[in-house]
Amino acid sequence: MCKDLNVLAIETSCDETSCSVVKNGRESLSSIVYSQIKTHEKFGGVVPEVASRMHVESIYVVVQKALLESSLNFSDIDLVAVTYGPGLVGALLVGIQYAKGIAFAIKKPLIGVNHIEGHICSNYIVHKDLEPPYLGLVVSGGHTFIIHVKDYTSYEILGETKDDAAGEAYDKVARVLGYEYPGGPKIDEFSKLGNENFIKFTRAKFSNGNSLDFSFSGIKSAVINYLHNSTQKGIEVNSYDVAASFQKSVVEYLIDNTIEAAKRTKLNKISLVGGVSANSYLREKLKNRCKDLNYELYYPTLDLCTDNAAMIGSAGYYRFINGYTSNFDLNASPNLKLNV
Ligand code: KG4
Ligand code: ZN
Repeated sequence: MCKDLNVLAIETSCDETSCSVVKNGRESLSSIVYSQIKTHEKFGGVVPEVASRMHVESIYVVVQKALLESSLNFSDIDLVAVTYGPGLVGALLVGIQYAKGIAFAIKKPLIGVNHIEGHICSNYIVHKDLEPPYLGLVVSGGHTFIIHVKDYTSYEILGETKDDAAGEAYDKVARVLGYEYPGGPKIDEFSKLGNENFIKFTRAKFSNGNSLDFSFSGIKSAVINYLHNSTQKGIEVNSYDVAASFQKSVVEYLIDNTIEAAKRTKLNKISLVGGVSANSYLREKLKNRCKDLNYELYYPTLDLCTDNAAMIGSAGYYRFINGYTSNFDLNASPNLKLNV
């Protein structure tokens, strides 16, 4: 029998300092996530310089805690994985330099991981039976993709946002509604109190009628215009109704394009991942559509939806067993694309 492969993974691409030990790409032995949200909240968004500094301050403790929780020592680690993009350059560099230091000290290979690929792999930790090929819907604060996941490291992008990411639109609309950052979870919560059919926010149409791409900035602008006009006319608006109507529009858009992609590719397995996959309305609606069509739907537990290092450990494992490693000249790549 093959020896187990233990990956120590680090994620610092945005405002979470995270470390995890992952066994054989599928089992999270520990997962420590130190969120900086409380600090960034007062600025209404992530402040890059503050994020970098806070990663520096917390990474040592986060890594030590992850090792302790896994009951392993550095000598049991076989591979060090780290997010090298996309993300905030200063934040990424903290994780990369720390990972390099560990890999060098313990004389084990280093692997740079694409953050988007990390999100895709988050479902491998929860669903031991999930194997490619399948259709992936990646929805986070920075990314929105419909992807044909052909194999563990091979992808085809079928649709993507042409402007704001889904989570970004959630956060921006939440801000104009007066909800605190990050607004996605707040819209999720407050929409439950509103009327989703209060107003129809229409989606943009692309000149190519077959496109599976998205445009969320149009929906966001429609919300802002609606609020502006209401204020000018002195009409008092119930923010819960607006939140629910906005959410309905975004979620129907995501689901319609995803189901269309599944039909075209004849893939009847769908994996929903990324921060917005925590959204209860999206989960429920997609679950119902998949049930009607007899498709299988996979989504992560809530702790694995938003940024975490366990997903990076899984992605690092699959990269490594497919022959990839990184050199010690690995650098941050803030605009890294998914390697298709
Ligand atoms: O994956 P993630 O942690 O970071 C990126 O890679 O971007 O995603 C963060 C995004 C934020 O925009 C946040 O508002 C959104 O995920 N989010 C949600 C929910 N939980 C997090 N959006 C809608 N509903 C939620 N429950
Ligand atoms: Zn993310």
